[in-house]
Amino acid sequence: PAQLHQRSKMTYHNITLPTRMRRMRYHDFSRRLMREHRLGVDDLICPLFVTEGEGLRVGVASMPGVERLSLDLLLAEAQALYALGIPAIALFPVVAAEQKSLDAAEAYNPDGLVQRAVRALKQAVPGLGIITDVALDPYTVHGQDGLLDAKGYVVNDATVAVLVKQALSHADAGADVVAPSDMMDGRIGAIRQALEAGQHHNTLILAYAAKYASAFYGPFRDAVGSAGNLGKGNKYSYQMDPANGDEALREVGLDLQEGADMVMVKPGLPYLDIIRRIKDTYAVPTFAYQVSGEYAMLKAAAQNGWLDERAVVLESLLAFKRAGSDAILTYYAKAVAQWLKEAE
Ligand code: PBG
Repeated sequence: PAQLHQRSKMTYHNITLPTRMRRMRYHDFSRRLMREHRLGVDDLICPLFVTEGEGLRVGVASMPGVERLSLDLLLAEAQALYALGIPAIALFPVVAAEQKSLDAAEAYNPDGLVQRAVRALKQAVPGLGIITDVALDPYTVHGQDGLLDAKGYVVNDATVAVLVKQALSHADAGADVVAPSDMMDGRIGAIRQALEAGQHHNTLILAYAAKYASAFYGPFRDAVGSAGNLGKGNKYSYQMDPANGDEALREVGLDLQEGADMVMVKPGLPYLDIIRRIKDTYAVPTFAYQVSGEYAMLKAAAQNGWLDERAVVLESLLAFKRAGSDAILTYYAKAVAQWLKEAE
């Protein structure tokens, strides 16, 4: 009968299927054996916001769970992160309005908030890698990452001269890694030369090589209080156009030539293609920054019960690894370190 014939044909077809992708997915052991990428605590960089004062812990409205800490509490937090096995932290200052200026001189004050924080951190938790942000936006009254000319244009070379002073002040304070996030041309070379001349031969440079002019930075600007200063201003004349990929490769090439040890792609998840292209082209330490807006999206959905927070965060970070990131800077670093420990 026709029906029977149909069934036997189907069976025959099934038996001779030479490749069944689902075989390896059937067992837990085989899924584990074939897994190509892993997320570990060694991959994490934790950003921390430091503010003046004592015993101060100030939330960020657009980043629930993220707090600005005064130095005393920052040290305790750094110790906790180190105990969890997190290799490094990235420090961002909340600069008081009266310390902001047109020339951003507070950026290289040897007794500024960042410089004091670095000294205290290196004393309290010597094994924890300390990464400092080299950029002027927290220190300028207009919230731009550089000095302005009469037309409001961010001037390149004069800004680089200030960035060099800022980077040196961080290295003098004991920063392990200086991380220029400003996107001025030639700043990596200028900082590298100054570090060499200043006997800081082993200070690392993490270059924000491919940093895009992104709307995902909004919550960060709330956190450091630069959003109001920037107002309706934008950073299109120095940060990259989200439409471009080839340009990121040129930026990375230049930063490496100028002496960068590591390169950063920022933001993260919307730019996984950029991470992959950089890793394939240069095979250098390539990091990704899961920025404030990415954190805010995940957190908001989680708080509404729309997404399983732990599952989506771990999946997102694993995607960074698959794309070629060696390390990931994420506001979820502490939570992830705790989740990974629980899963051990
Ligand atoms: C600027 C800087 C930015 C961030 C860190 N340093 C972006 C900007 O304001 O242009 C954003 C980080 C984030 O959104 O998490 N030097």
